[in-house]
Amino acid sequence: MANDQENLLKKVISHAKEYGFVFPSSEIYDGLSAVYDYGQNGVELKNNIKEYWWKFMTQMHDNIVGIDAAIFMHPTVWKASGHVDAFNDPMIDNKDSKKRYRADVLVEDAIGKMEEKIEKEIEKAAKRFGESFDKKMFSETNPRVLEYKKKVDEANERLKNAMTGNDMVAMKQLIVDLEINDPISGTKNWTDVRQFNLMFSTEMGSIAEDANKIYLRPETAQGIFVNFLNVQKTGRMKIPFGIAQIGKAFRNEIVARQFIFRMREFEQMEMQYFVKPGTEMEAYEFWKAKRMKWHQALGLGTENYRFHDHLNLAHYANAACDIQFNFPMGFKELEGIHSRTDFDLKSHEKFSGKKLQYFDTESNQSYVPYVVETSVGLDRLFLSILSNSYKEEKLVPKNIGTDGEEGNERVVLSIPAALAPYKIAVLPLVKKDGLDEKAKSVVDQLKSTFRCYYEEKDTIGRRYRRMDAIGTPYCITIDHQTLQDNTVTLRDRDTMKQERVAIQSLKEKIGESVSMIKLLQSI
Ligand code: GAP
Repeated sequence: MANDQENLLKKVISHAKEYGFVFPSSEIYDGLSAVYDYGQNGVELKNNIKEYWWKFMTQMHDNIVGIDAAIFMHPTVWKASGHVDAFNDPMIDNKDSKKRYRADVLVEDAIGKMEEKIEKEIEKAAKRFGESFDKKMFSETNPRVLEYKKKVDEANERLKNAMTGNDMVAMKQLIVDLEINDPISGTKNWTDVRQFNLMFSTEMGSIAEDANKIYLRPETAQGIFVNFLNVQKTGRMKIPFGIAQIGKAFRNEIVARQFIFRMREFEQMEMQYFVKPGTEMEAYEFWKAKRMKWHQALGLGTENYRFHDHLNLAHYANAACDIQFNFPMGFKELEGIHSRTDFDLKSHEKFSGKKLQYFDTESNQSYVPYVVETSVGLDRLFLSILSNSYKEEKLVPKNIGTDGEEGNERVVLSIPAALAPYKIAVLPLVKKDGLDEKAKSVVDQLKSTFRCYYEEKDTIGRRYRRMDAIGTPYCITIDHQTLQDNTVTLRDRDTMKQERVAIQSLKEKIGESVSMIKLLQSI
């Protein structure tokens, strides 16, 4: 990670803690690795993100309904889904740094570096040749680019074979051949590569026997698969239809760094879309486009998203890609879109002995549907919004010291207004002359429509800064003039512009720009 990006992540982590967004879990006991708690502002942002997803998926698609399945499931579910046997990550330790890594991630990073070299060659040539540069021709003929490409293709092929063939000796050899160094010790003193199952287990009931061993779900999807017929029958759903769910998932990640990007307890927002066999690729393309639009509507910059096709398909998929986001650590997976075939339903049929088929009244035939899933990590989405919104701004001289603004720089979270924890702060200029009572009455008028923050302590400038720091889109200041003419100062978080507005027109003035409905309509 480049230094400034590393610094950005550090700043976001400390800001998230200082302003009540995210705390390390059990902090008074020095925390618990890769587990985090959401604070008073974090939970609001998280709930708003959930609402944005839930309403889009279930309310705006009349063929998608939601469920809320239990975290604990019958242990055979995880045998049938393949997670007991195949939900492994290859791990490797460096004997000098004593650090543990995911072997496939080390290889992917090494491949990423080779790809960067290709990009650099192309950039250099583009500068050299200027307007006459033909990128396609250069990429297809330049010997250095071709050599790197060959290496990338070979490494990808070997990685794919090692992963699909579960061949950990080949994986170790690939790490040796690519001359991968430990980023901490700088040495190549590696252990062998071993498979590590990521599921947490516990016992149900009082006797700790193997028969009582149950798992904490590593994905929410299986709760949807086992309820497929319950929902289809009771909801009279016709294919194609979807089932959506938001809930906790647990993975004993080998390397759990990078804040809430990779956690051991996290939350997923998943939707399984059940389709007629043979139509799954159409549904896959449809959901790829839909989900990308949903992300981009947040306004974090279209250039910060890209698709990344999976080369190593999971045991259940016949096509898969990620929507990657430009996190402070670079482009990384935000959401997975997978064509899961009929693998899960067929396997549950086999293990449970129950039919999980759909009767198609048009063709008079029963079949096991195919499934396209969209699966986004709520915590990763939270991090994408927080890191993209975090801004340190130098203030233009005209704002300094005027209209109550304080200092010559500020930290502002430009969180999409519809998702902000508070929409409005109501601030009496001073806590006397009846301004505080007037401000409280304004809160009373607005609080059923918007989540309002009331604060009367400190200078108005300091209060503005605190509201900027938690991303409150509007501050309303109550001053002496308010008592005379029922107008207030309305300050915009992003432009810092202030205008005089009548109290009775506040709802209309603010409503649209912080509206979840508007955001949903913009997709
Ligand atoms: N049901 C499919 C599934 O679980 P996945 O790609 O393993 O697919 C889906 O996970 C999404 O869940 C990821 O794109 C990511 O956003 C999120 N996710 C996965 N592991 C995570 C972790 N350890 N911490 C936070 N989010 C995670």
